[in-house]
Amino acid sequence: MFFIYLLLALLISYFVWDRYIRIILRIKYYEKQGVKFHEFVPFFGSYPGIMKFIKEKDPKRFPTIDYLKHCFGLPLPLYTGFISTRVLYLYINSHEPLQELFVTKNKYFDKHPSTSTFLKKTVGDSTLFMKSNELWAKKRRSLSASLYKQKLVQMVETMKQIGLETIEEWGKRGEIDIVTETANLMMKNTLACVFGRQNENPIIKYKENGQIRDIRLGESIQQNLSNASLREFQLHLMIFPELLPIYITKHDKELEFNLNQVIDYIKNLIRDKKEKFAQTGQYEGEDLLTIMLQDELFKQDDRMIIDECLTFFNAGAQTTAVTLANFLSYIAQNSDQEQKMRNELQSHLKNFGGDSKALSTEINMEKVDDLLYLKYCFYESMRIEPPVVISSSCQVNKDLNIQGVTIKKDEALIINIYQIHHNQDQWIEDEKYIPERFDPASKYYLTPAGTPRNPLSFIPFIGGKRICLGKTFSEYTFKIIVPLLLSKHKFRLVNQDHITNKPQYDAIMFKKPVIPMRLEKI
Ligand code: HEM
Repeated sequence: MFFIYLLLALLISYFVWDRYIRIILRIKYYEKQGVKFHEFVPFFGSYPGIMKFIKEKDPKRFPTIDYLKHCFGLPLPLYTGFISTRVLYLYINSHEPLQELFVTKNKYFDKHPSTSTFLKKTVGDSTLFMKSNELWAKKRRSLSASLYKQKLVQMVETMKQIGLETIEEWGKRGEIDIVTETANLMMKNTLACVFGRQNENPIIKYKENGQIRDIRLGESIQQNLSNASLREFQLHLMIFPELLPIYITKHDKELEFNLNQVIDYIKNLIRDKKEKFAQTGQYEGEDLLTIMLQDELFKQDDRMIIDECLTFFNAGAQTTAVTLANFLSYIAQNSDQEQKMRNELQSHLKNFGGDSKALSTEINMEKVDDLLYLKYCFYESMRIEPPVVISSSCQVNKDLNIQGVTIKKDEALIINIYQIHHNQDQWIEDEKYIPERFDPASKYYLTPAGTPRNPLSFIPFIGGKRICLGKTFSEYTFKIIVPLLLSKHKFRLVNQDHITNKPQYDAIMFKKPVIPMRLEKI
């Protein structure tokens, strides 16, 4: 009995230390340096406050973005503090610290384990959340080489085929929900580029509310990511985040089942490809999986390949889809911008508006590199509604003074990408969609004070050594597919109120909006 009491006393002491005293000491340490914190309830952190805010205000974007403004007003302090049950997160709300984090002190910049703990099963142990160690650097080098411009040539052919097929199907339907359809399009595109067209979007098993049904692989991947993100808000995991690696609730068990279906599918694909190789002595295809199977680092370890594939689907498809859906919606709101873009497409692509197959043949990477206004639209779509509104948890590997605050080694940092893209000292009329902001000849290229804008005010892919690996891939996907979609159709917003007030849309929000669009033949 004595030992049980002793164990209980030790456990309680641990929780009081870990959830209360340690957190209070940390808060005081940062408060002394001027950092402001959200309301905090011992053992529950800042969650009660944000949950009440969500219930009362029903925010239309990722909740912390609006919650920060609600608590601190604009302009936001440079740093603010949010307490999850046992982790202190320092939010970086302005670009100033990024010069040190991404440039001068970048060697100390790293990923913090917090985000990866609850997404681990969904994205695996891939480059995305790994520490910046030797293995990460090796993987990154290999993958970058596979996604290097020259290697993309074959994938560009795949993107063109998918663009053509999609617009044919959308054109026949006449009216579509642009949010769902761009998600399907980009998942199909990513699956085809990673697995090859023959394995593009197969059917797999999916469990929901106790029932197993057949769904497309792409849909399952999207659902799994949403369900994995929602784990953060399960009460027992909020209070005892130590249990995150254990999948015990019905929700978690179904998620685990569904994740295993996806993993099994990739495993079987690898097995089939390897068997074919054993018979013929060569691999067929220019898809990423085939490239990885021949890479010295990856070919020894199937699990490493599976994890990178999962990350590409989760990090790559939805982000690019959000950019495309928001672009089509904004351009439908502004006829001058649409005309400017169409004029550019017409002057660079002689088959734009003509035969679709001829246009597809004409489009290549060099041609789309000349489409500057289209590039500005791509950037502005990611500026105004960044697909990834906040970064995952990052850290520095040494105590560092950054912009007047000494940040402790291992403290969780979150980069508030949305707020940095809306800082009013950097962006003129930040709430307006203005592609000209990226045109050096435009007045919008400057800050409201007329000075050059800080380049770190625009960080949709974050920066430094952990910059997005799919940056070039996503830019080409966008610039190759858009001319094919717009050549013979105009996209129009169906709901009158969306013409002035488009629903917010990003890749990590829990409840996606519906944005119906009508395709009008030109
Ligand atoms: C518009 C499209 C995209 C946007 C806005 C975007 C944005 C981002 C951001 C913000 C990060 C940092 C995430 C973090 O905070 O941990 C990131 C990392 C990453 N992204 Fe993307 N991404 C896009 C497309 C893609 C695509 C298409 C791929 C794959 C083909 C991809 C693969 C990755 C990987 C592997 C990382 C981790 C890199 C590392 O830490 O070494 N992304 N991306």
